[in-house]
Amino acid sequence: MKKTFLVLLLFPILLLSQELKSPNGDFSMLFELKDGKPTYQLNLKGNPIIKPSTLGFELVDMPSLLSDFEIKNTSTSTFDETWEPLWGEQAKIRNHYNELLVELSQKSSDRLLHIRFRLFDDGLGFRYEFPQQPNLTYFVIKEEKSQFALTGDHKTFWIPGDYDTQEYNYTTSKLSEIAGLMEDAITPNASQTPFSKNGIQTALMLKTDNGTYINIHEAALIEYACMHLEVNPDTFVLESHLTPDVQGNKGYMQVPRATPWRTVIASKNAGDILLSSITLNLNEPTTYEDTSWIKPVKYIGVWWEMITGKSSWSYTDVPSVQLGKTDFSKSTPNGTHAANNEKVKRYIDFAAEHGFSQVLVEGWNEGWEDYWFGKSKDFVFDFLTPYPDFDVTMLRDYAKSKGVQLMMHHETSGSVRNYERFMDKAYQFMVDNNYNSVKSGYVGNIIPRGETHYGQWMVNHYLYAVEKAAEYKIMVNAHEAVRPTGLSRTYPNLIGNESARGTEYEAFGGNTPDHTTILPFTRLIGGPMDYTPGIFVMDMSKLNPGNKSWVNSTIARQLALYVTMYSPLQMAADLPEHYEQHLDAFQFIKDVAIDWDTSLVLEAEPGDYVTYARKEKGGNNWFVGRSNDEEPRTSKIDFSFLDKGKTYIAIVYSDASNAHYRNNPQAYNIKKYRVTSKSKLTQACAPGGGYAISIMEPKDKNETKGLKRL
Ligand code: NOJ
Ligand code: CA
Repeated sequence: MKKTFLVLLLFPILLLSQELKSPNGDFSMLFELKDGKPTYQLNLKGNPIIKPSTLGFELVDMPSLLSDFEIKNTSTSTFDETWEPLWGEQAKIRNHYNELLVELSQKSSDRLLHIRFRLFDDGLGFRYEFPQQPNLTYFVIKEEKSQFALTGDHKTFWIPGDYDTQEYNYTTSKLSEIAGLMEDAITPNASQTPFSKNGIQTALMLKTDNGTYINIHEAALIEYACMHLEVNPDTFVLESHLTPDVQGNKGYMQVPRATPWRTVIASKNAGDILLSSITLNLNEPTTYEDTSWIKPVKYIGVWWEMITGKSSWSYTDVPSVQLGKTDFSKSTPNGTHAANNEKVKRYIDFAAEHGFSQVLVEGWNEGWEDYWFGKSKDFVFDFLTPYPDFDVTMLRDYAKSKGVQLMMHHETSGSVRNYERFMDKAYQFMVDNNYNSVKSGYVGNIIPRGETHYGQWMVNHYLYAVEKAAEYKIMVNAHEAVRPTGLSRTYPNLIGNESARGTEYEAFGGNTPDHTTILPFTRLIGGPMDYTPGIFVMDMSKLNPGNKSWVNSTIARQLALYVTMYSPLQMAADLPEHYEQHLDAFQFIKDVAIDWDTSLVLEAEPGDYVTYARKEKGGNNWFVGRSNDEEPRTSKIDFSFLDKGKTYIAIVYSDASNAHYRNNPQAYNIKKYRVTSKSKLTQACAPGGGYAISIMEPKDKNETKGLKRL
């Protein structure tokens, strides 16, 4: 009798809150049911990172799932595994966490909601799960109400919340200043439409006044709308804001289902944020049985000349009659069509000569006349019909004879049902013509009209395209798609995404000089970016007199980006003739690896600089890259990451002392040294500059003779 009473008394008290610690004990998380509302808070070494924050949902035409809960059960577990990604920044990734599963029931409705928390040594992931149950089967989400109550008015690296684009420069400000800066965050002439004064995108990077770095993002975005954050400028509470569909609804759900993970990475050390594997670890292992066809790619492309306006994608300058019905061989060519047989052969030759495995060719297929003129036509491209001056079979065979492959380009023009209609044929066409990778694109308003790039419907499409591609053994690099959330663990043929402001904007008005010191902390937290670096001629009017844009970077920093902007897909984006003017600097792009055994962060401060050292997979060479903001800075690194007792040759590609991104971007030095694990380097970096180093094992002793020691 007495025993039962004690249990009854203790039971509710015990279960109203539950603490969870990270494996090394640095993080602690507390789950509490406060007045029937689920809340969590997160501490790092005893200091609050997230103050008590509520969780739940508003539903359409149904009572919300926000309060009136009781705890049915809680359980904890531990998980520890080390897995090997097919490609990545590390050859081995440890997935080690403590887990808390809270099973809630809403008293008035008898509906069940589970919340699963995973606490890693680098941060927290949590998600909602709707188990099979009698009282909740289908429902529509009005809004997810996940809060992240921050502890103060942190420094924030943000881009406006937008349902259709992430192609913004970053703004750095306090949380409370966001609304006042929202207008300035927009690039004139770009189709950027912030959805509110205080809405911002993830991955969001923050820094507290006491020097703690915090990153908020999501993992495993599947069959769900992309999450934005709404900032309360007075309380510093951030709240989830899902991308709506045309009716304003945010998600159509059928149980059993789980949401994507919400992630909070935090550390006193900025480098820990960059090296966190939380996003990948919260995705499921791949179920692909054969992955032999998935390989990192270094490529060049018939591309930059169109981006700069030197050449055109289209064959003529007049709109076609109708796709499939225009006889293009009878049209007058505009004389600037880049994707022609002769030009493509020249690119193939260049790729073969310099060791690039693929050549992207954009503008090879009919439809570009309508793409530019009739922005909203459903049927613009069929992904099958080449222009008359692009001979698919001849170029396929020519490339093959040179040991090179062409990379396919599918610009959907946002006409997504049209793409889905042609997808099987388009992928089969690729297989038949020896293409194994596609760059896809979603420029313009989404058709069906009213859908947006980041809503649930489009999120489903992007994954459909990747899964379907896998059936044909095709790798996908999708531009303008939703930003990545670690899905490449499950779908390793998703080898690239753009989903941020890439190098193309250097030809459309420019990227801020600190852009590449922020992207690793934001966009790259979710996965690799096809940033397309390697521009050597910064004055765009040299390519197209009408283009007044300027690439805000030195050449040395363009080289560094191959190391600092991790991607298994790296482009040398400039024109072959520009590389031919600087073959000594180009050598770094040829040498640099694209798949890594180990990655280290040597120096990092978001918005100021990042310096990485990476060891290539399957070899002993190391590569170092440093990207600098608009300030002149001095980088100090040591080489203690090298094998002890070994001598290497380091080639340092740095800014010349008078280099500057605005007025002297092409001034660089190339110096060769002997280095060991005891070497140190103090290197000046120009405004908008940086440096790159290749560290290679000498082939024989003579190679290091006479070289200065660092
Ligand atoms: C935008 C993409 O980012 C760019 O790389 C591509 O060339 C154009 N769309 C045309 O598809
Ligand atoms: Ca783009």
